[in-house]
Amino acid sequence: MIVIHKLKKSYGDKQVLDGVDLEVVDGETHVVLGRSGEGKSVLIKHICGLLLPDTGWVSIDGVRLHTRNRKRNRPILAKVQMLFQGSALFDSMTVAQNVAFHAIEHGTATLADAERVAAEFLEMVNLADAGGLSPAEISGGMKKRAALARALAAHPNIMLYDEPTTGLDPITSAVIDQLIRETQRRVGVTSIVVTHDLRSAKAVGDRFSFLSEGKIIETGSMEQLLNSPHAVIREFMADLKEVNPVSSPR
Ligand SMILES: Nc1ncnc2c1ncn2[C@@H]1O[C@H](COP(=O)(O)OP(=O)(O)OP(=O)(O)O)[C@@H](O)[C@H]1O
Ligand SMILES: [Mg+2]
Repeated sequence: MIVIHKLKKSYGDKQVLDGVDLEVVDGETHVVLGRSGEGKSVLIKHICGLLLPDTGWVSIDGVRLHTRNRKRNRPILAKVQMLFQGSALFDSMTVAQNVAFHAIEHGTATLADAERVAAEFLEMVNLADAGGLSPAEISGGMKKRAALARALAAHPNIMLYDEPTTGLDPITSAVIDQLIRETQRRVGVTSIVVTHDLRSAKAVGDRFSFLSEGKIIETGSMEQLLNSPHAVIREFMADLKEVNPVSSPR
């Protein structure tokens, strides 16, 4: 279980997170929704230990992340992988070497083994033929899939996805959604997904939370959020529906 307790984070005089409370239970896919710039990426980066809170804390399976010393969090964070909003592939490595990065880093594979180690995961994301290319040579959608393959190849227990389908065509988005679902089913991964894509949210989410003005103001089912007592949530959902109808057949 992931617990976020009264988490606060500011940049300069901007209070981005102002006491976030959130519980994500084992095995669920929890979708975090919220307007652009509300702090969704900042929040998710606290869970993978990339950012440290001003006050408050994050705990993973009962262990609180150290709030001042990043190094001490390494053992607990070994089970967490993150798909970054901007993919964040290593430009100096091939796609296959990126995907095999975890194994290379842990000494269970060499750069020369990368193609072999990465093959299964590249296949999973429909990139079987792209292993030898460099990140500069592939499209944004392919980068996202390569980054997903890299994360999955590390066999995480917890997956964090920051806008996994944003900017992708509907078919590629559906492939990503399916992978998120399959990963959850196959290994019982606990996931947090930040997304603006209502169709994707509906396809992958078990529970939904809405971040507004630095706090989670509601958690519940999609139905509950669509009928939320908070006008800001209803308006947000209505806007999304127009761009991306939630009733589309899947
Ligand atoms: N390193 C930083 N330094 C200063 N301000 C930052 C930094 N990172 C984030 N912010 C600010 O924190 C706020 C929240 O940013 P964040 O990227 O988390 O938003 P978001 O909800 O993920 O938005 P989007 O939906 O557009 O991705 C923004 O106002 C942003 O400018
Ligand atoms: Mg973001």
